[in-house]
Amino acid sequence: MASSSNPLIIITIVVFLLINLTQVIGVENILLEEGYTVTTIIDGDKLSVNPYAVISLYGSSSSDLVILDSVKSTFYTVSFSDSQVGELKKLAGNTNGAAGYKDGDLGSAEFNKPKNFAVDKKNNIYIADKGNHVIRKISKTGVTTIAGGNIRKTGKADGPAQNASFSDDFELAFDSQRCALLISDHGNRLIRQLDLKAEDCADTSSGSVLGSTIAWSIGVVVTCLIGFVLGFAVRPYVLPYTGSFRPTSGQHDMEALPNQSGETSSDLLLRQQKRNC
Ligand SMILES: *[C@@H]1O[C@H](CO)[C@@H](O)[C@H](O)[C@H]1NC(C)=O
Repeated sequence: MASSSNPLIIITIVVFLLINLTQVIGVENILLEEGYTVTTIIDGDKLSVNPYAVISLYGSSSSDLVILDSVKSTFYTVSFSDSQVGELKKLAGNTNGAAGYKDGDLGSAEFNKPKNFAVDKKNNIYIADKGNHVIRKISKTGVTTIAGGNIRKTGKADGPAQNASFSDDFELAFDSQRCALLISDHGNRLIRQLDLKAEDCADTSSGSVLGSTIAWSIGVVVTCLIGFVLGFAVRPYVLPYTGSFRPTSGQHDMEALPNQSGETSSDLLLRQQKRNC
């Protein structure tokens, strides 16, 4: 009786040890980093919206989100005040939820099942309107087509944006440094770039422009001060060498060599600093 149950116990122990061993060896290399929290901020079922993609708008005062309901080809905005979800407002899209292609004012514009969009620093919204094979733009004044408008079918032509073509499957990302939309054109296996207008990449909030001006001024003053301090500090160490020590050709010390007017470069540095400040 006892001997028949022994193999089972041994197998159980071996399996148990193996499981523990794999964990110790780290075959499953999973690192659980703590300190993050997940919260539901919008319940699509409660608001009768089917959120497919979401992006927050730029700007310190605005905590608005743009939500795309791909099934209905419609964009919504939601504002938050004191982290309370505000009203869901239709931004642009078809009233009956059918796909279409209409530019113009926000109320009557139509899209064809877009699944992805990007937002620039002016809060213009760029839409990968896959169904219409074009790139659309929602600005304050309405909806326009900015790329593919002359072609409106799949392809991979580069060039003037209205004559460009895209695959059935592409996504957009806004790149403020390039001032461009980056297009990951999955269907063509290409990364493409659509250059935007410089005004769309400028920081809109006046506060940050003021902030950067102040930062720039402080930068100039600090640089000038450092320049003076360095100039004075370096002077006594540089000057004594000019007469008594002739550097060999292998180790030319440019700082120590007087120029034609008998002035060392640290004097020159000081003079330039005075002129700059
Ligand atoms: C772009 O397309 C339009 C309309 O098809 C055509 O008239 C024009 O010549 C094209 N431009 C270029 C640069 O290909």
